[in-house]
Amino acid sequence: MRLGIFGAGYVGLVTSVCFAELGHTVVAADKDREVVARLADGVPTLYEPGLENVLRANLRAGRLTFTTSTTEALQRGEIVFLCVGTPGRADGRADLSQIDEVVRSIAPMLNGYTLLVEKSTVPVDTASCIIRALRRLTGARNGYEVASNPEFLREGSAIEDFMHPDRIVIGADSPRAQALLLDLYRRDFACPILLTDIKNAELIKHAANAFLATKISFINMVADLCERVGADISIVAQGIGLDHRIGPHFLQAGLGFGGSCFPKDLKALVRIAEDLGVDFGLLREVERINEARAARLIKTLNEALWVLRHKTVGVLGVAFKSNTDDIRNAPSLHVIPQLREQGVLLRIYDPQAAFKIATQFPAEAGLQYVPSAYEAAKGAHALLILTDWDEFRSLDWRQLRSLMRTPVIIDGRNLFDPAAMHARGFEYYSFGRKHTQEPPDADMPERAEPAHGFHTAASRIDPLPTVAGGEDD
Ligand code: UGA
Repeated sequence: MRLGIFGAGYVGLVTSVCFAELGHTVVAADKDREVVARLADGVPTLYEPGLENVLRANLRAGRLTFTTSTTEALQRGEIVFLCVGTPGRADGRADLSQIDEVVRSIAPMLNGYTLLVEKSTVPVDTASCIIRALRRLTGARNGYEVASNPEFLREGSAIEDFMHPDRIVIGADSPRAQALLLDLYRRDFACPILLTDIKNAELIKHAANAFLATKISFINMVADLCERVGADISIVAQGIGLDHRIGPHFLQAGLGFGGSCFPKDLKALVRIAEDLGVDFGLLREVERINEARAARLIKTLNEALWVLRHKTVGVLGVAFKSNTDDIRNAPSLHVIPQLREQGVLLRIYDPQAAFKIATQFPAEAGLQYVPSAYEAAKGAHALLILTDWDEFRSLDWRQLRSLMRTPVIIDGRNLFDPAAMHARGFEYYSFGRKHTQEPPDADMPERAEPAHGFHTAASRIDPLPTVAGGEDD
């Protein structure tokens, strides 16, 4: 099929390269000339595993074109996807001005049947507003339709998520629009394809993100309980997740959620509900819990180091999650300035996102960007783990410990087994698990602990696999 894509940001770019990879002819339009020039040269504008290869292969194959001309994307596409940004406004509502801009720019050029498909996350009923605007601008409704086909990809695994989704949601209000979108997907995707109307589809996206965020805040509150009572959140989460009605995913406790989606979509859904006379206070609480996580980490650091002023702290990871250079709403944006205000000297390392955070917090005498985790540990009184990068799981802890002034680790992502870190000689603090404060005493016999694991028929205990991430060796 011939597809037009408006917007070459995260969703637009991944959608463009993936549809091209599936054999469709894609014209992607973006108003940013520099972005278009770079992409046309095969240079990704964002870090995403696997993106560069697919981008280059499809440019070479001639299936993928980037342009600044909306006319070109519109006229060469049988289906046109709206993938422009829908950022949050100061009042929490979604800013739909980029969608409005696209609608106004294409209205005069609509000629023949065009299906405009919302792919960006939009408030429920946005399609009705688009249709109303187009009707006003074109004088008639003939010749175009609007549909909703929300995207569920995650940053860091976007290509994989696009190619192997759990489900595809097609929201259309006419058989023709529905059939066109179904034709686009059914050949290549074996997952369930949910056919529904536009409003349901729009709401599914917001509700899915809000539910996942709720799961994270829920488990973070249980983690706080665990910490108070001396229980272990990774085992509690596992025990909960074994119930198939709950499932094991998104129960990783720690610093909470960031990124360009959950925080913005939560706020937007609260406002949508409010505007419709529904009090979705639950989601306000989810937000409140999440916003308190960074302060909790700093409190733990304070307790561990006693006085923070003039202490050196290594920061491992600033991206909001692993496998991305995205720092939007990342906990690091709160942690870094708060620690600097308290006179902490920071040595920061992130495999991909350091250059982005450096634009917000430029290097200065008390804040250095360093090229490795080992450099971050040099002379440090403590290490903070803010992002779940895989490379942190396989660090040489002996070397790291020898570089640090005091062996204190505050792990905001619960990457390691506290007992193992203790055995390596660290004071190890994480979320919802026992803190191991005293250095191991060689003369003291280990106190026997009850087993944690699955009882098997052979009366053995199989150790629990870790919920997410886990031990490094
Ligand atoms: C999220 C959704 O997962 C996607 O389905 C959706 O398409 C996307 O938003 C979007 O609306 O565009 P994303 O924000 O890329 O994707 O990342 P996630 O993997 O969902 O993680 C979000 C945040 O939650 C991260 O900060 C992560 O560290 C945190 N998280 C995730 C936890 O704290 N605990 C968990 O158990 C899982």
